[in-house]
Amino acid sequence: MKRITISSSAQHLGEPVEIAGWLYNLRSSGKICFPQVRDGSGIMQCVAVKSQLPEAVFDALKKLTQESSVIIRGKIRAESRAPGGFEMDVEDATVMQRVAEETPYPISLKEHGPEFLLDHRHLWIRSRRQHAILRVRHEVIKAVRDYFDSNGFTLVDTPIFTPAACEGTTTLFEVNYFEDEKVYLTQSGQLYNEATAMAFGKVYTFGPTFRAEKSKTRRHLTEFWMVEPEMAYATLDDVKQVAEELICFIVDRVLANRRAELAILERDVAKLEAIKPPFPRISYDEGVAILKRKGSNIEWGGDFGGTDETLLSEEFDRPILVDRYPSEIKAFYFEPDPNRPEVALGVDVLAPEGYGEIIGGGQRIHDLDLLMKRIDEHQLPREAFEWYLDLRRFGSVPHAGFGMGIERCVTWMTGIDHLRETIAFPRMLYRTRP
Ligand code: 4AD
Ligand code: MG
Repeated sequence: MKRITISSSAQHLGEPVEIAGWLYNLRSSGKICFPQVRDGSGIMQCVAVKSQLPEAVFDALKKLTQESSVIIRGKIRAESRAPGGFEMDVEDATVMQRVAEETPYPISLKEHGPEFLLDHRHLWIRSRRQHAILRVRHEVIKAVRDYFDSNGFTLVDTPIFTPAACEGTTTLFEVNYFEDEKVYLTQSGQLYNEATAMAFGKVYTFGPTFRAEKSKTRRHLTEFWMVEPEMAYATLDDVKQVAEELICFIVDRVLANRRAELAILERDVAKLEAIKPPFPRISYDEGVAILKRKGSNIEWGGDFGGTDETLLSEEFDRPILVDRYPSEIKAFYFEPDPNRPEVALGVDVLAPEGYGEIIGGGQRIHDLDLLMKRIDEHQLPREAFEWYLDLRRFGSVPHAGFGMGIERCVTWMTGIDHLRETIAFPRMLYRTRP
């Protein structure tokens, strides 16, 4: 018999087909029962009528326990009252594994606390909301790849074991690497992107990155996925333009393909529909002025905290581009503004609705002497950066790029409270399991 996915039901009305899935929910009333089966693509309400089925099949279905695996055969018809718009009249069923009564599926349809759910993350991802969030994540990643692939960027993967810090030495994870050699898990593929950009012009890398962030916030993971484009012969303005285009591309894709998931998540889609270029562009200085006016105790020179970012983004209905932060609070590689060397040619993109920074990037130092000076000032080990300095010895050009955290972006798209639900198996300060 033909196996179909529930999401393709509309194309198989009236045909004998089978769906292979897990029991999501079950209602029954004596002579009829309604097993709801999920198969990863959707949920199907099945109708099993006692008088029309072999007794063993009806009994097995009627006693089915939550998340038991089951293959159901029958015919599908449109049914406007059913949750997915279709119903399947059951003709036969095979129970693959019945979840025992003594050890029931731990996640029931009632409420559970977050720690309990995180401990059962391997099962929790089957739940409707979690499933919807992870499908939006897939859509975001697909959009990111399509955007760069169709705009002349070459994907070049960068290493995860690295000999040096990119984003400051305080958040490095150290790894013992044979014979006393120490390496770190990468914080960013940027430094390698700068090399590949000199080979390919426009590149991107997309992979996991690691930060030993001791902060326990709803915006920080210790392992997160970042997409990082880098462009040769490019400046801060190019970064802003690509960041704006990328975000609009992602929002359009999510709205075009993931409406059903956004509905499950009760996302206010009007807020996403409002995301149109151009995005407001402000300077760090203006940001500080706005924040002071709104009662923050930030002083010029300090970094925006999570609360500051939220206060700032409340002022706007679309992402904002904040540029020229003080060089002091930025990483070693930022090109200083030639007119005001105390600020960096960098930009952060802050998402609306209080979701905070989703993109950070800017223009890189391309002058050899200045870069060597900065490496020394930041007390970074020169020998680990010799190869990176070569990029300034052999055909150095202005170049720029950025990084977007996938989980930050998905949190905003889905409108949820916490970053940890946007990745299948989150890694945080106090969580490395399951
Ligand atoms: O601003 P960040 O630190 O920039 C860089 O790493 C640059 N080297 C990127 C580049 O220019 N190629 O990080 C970039 C983005 C942030 O805007 C945020 O979205 C995300 O990465 N991010 C995190 N996401 C989750 N958990 C964390 N601990 C994160 N730290 C940064
Ligand atoms: Mg940043």
